[in-house]
Amino acid sequence: MSDSSPQRTRRGGRHPQSRQAVTDLDDNLARVARDTDWDGVRLHVVTGKGGTGKTTVAASLALALAAGGRKVLLIEVEGRQGIAQLFDCPPLPYEERKVAVAPDGGDVYALAVDPEEAMLEYLEMFYNLRRAGKALTRLGLIDFATTIAPGLRDVLLTGKASEAVRRKDKKGRFVYDAVVMDAPPTGRISRFLNVNTEVAGLAKMGPIRHHADTVMKVIRSPETAVHFVTLLEEMPVQETVDGIADLRELGLPVGGLMVNLIRPPILPDDDLSAALDDELDVEAIRMGVKAAGLEDGAAEIARALAIEASDHARRSSLQERELARLADAGVPQYELPLLSDGMDLAGLYEFAEELRKQGAA
Ligand SMILES: Nc1ncnc2c1ncn2[C@@H]1O[C@H](COP(=O)(O)OP(=O)(O)O)[C@@H](O)[C@H]1O
Ligand SMILES: [Mg+2]
Repeated sequence: MSDSSPQRTRRGGRHPQSRQAVTDLDDNLARVARDTDWDGVRLHVVTGKGGTGKTTVAASLALALAAGGRKVLLIEVEGRQGIAQLFDCPPLPYEERKVAVAPDGGDVYALAVDPEEAMLEYLEMFYNLRRAGKALTRLGLIDFATTIAPGLRDVLLTGKASEAVRRKDKKGRFVYDAVVMDAPPTGRISRFLNVNTEVAGLAKMGPIRHHADTVMKVIRSPETAVHFVTLLEEMPVQETVDGIADLRELGLPVGGLMVNLIRPPILPDDDLSAALDDELDVEAIRMGVKAAGLEDGAAEIARALAIEASDHARRSSLQERELARLADAGVPQYELPLLSDGMDLAGLYEFAEELRKQGAA
């Protein structure tokens, strides 16, 4: 898939005809050539303003991509152990562990990448220096090095993801069908991914430079997509719009928009617009309240309900406005509802199903 693919600019992930075509195919074939908006993408980077549901969406996307017998690696880079919490398992060591079984078979593995461990691995790989590395760790030098050189830290983290994307087994097949990264927030994502420039000041040549170049090749390729998680509120939407512009400027591959915490409208359109203009028929509401058997204080209840309805209408119209701003970005959008009982494992599977239905995986 190339950047100019029309699928990249289509809003929404629904395309019923091609969906049908997939179900007509032999199961096995469909597994290989699943028709999604991101066919050919093997590294899914998930960013978003903090607290918008980045970890939740990354995990759901991993489940969705694994569905039907695939193997997916979910990578966490911020050391928060959010993935272990979500999947209800003990803190992840620096080791790939199976954390979930996807719908219709398929496995999700997870890894919490720690820059220090990644550095040791790197020293071992390139210099056969694991023991020396351990000594450096004890002296706190690795921690020090990655702290003073954030570019180095980032290239170690992105390096781990691109290594997992390219890793092959003895038969030459990819070990993972896809890798999903729960990445740093929107405000830092372009620097994080643009390792080339970040490392340029550190190393003009040698293995680090070479490593950065290899990582950059993967990140810039059509094999990578950077998805944005957002809420329909002004600030997160603005950050998303800016983040997309930043990536485009750097020539980094923009993926889809996962719009989280959507509140479905609970009033019909007419009532919504009346509520928005504070023109709801309070008398009619009062009659309704009375008819429902609440004689006492019906007028008061009706006034309170009308205020509630106006608030709801304002939120709905704000949501619509933000949705329209996001649509201008010209990338596929996927919508995920606010789960009123909160997010849990069942919610993750529900979101995975939702993402598949909308064509994200
Ligand atoms: N659609 C949703 N409905 C209900 N709760 C959600 C939803 N999405 C995320 N959450 C909750 O919001 C909180 C923040 O989500 P999280 O994925 O950890 O965000 P981030 O990684 O962006 O900080 C978590 O408690 C999560 O369970
Ligand atoms: Mg998180």
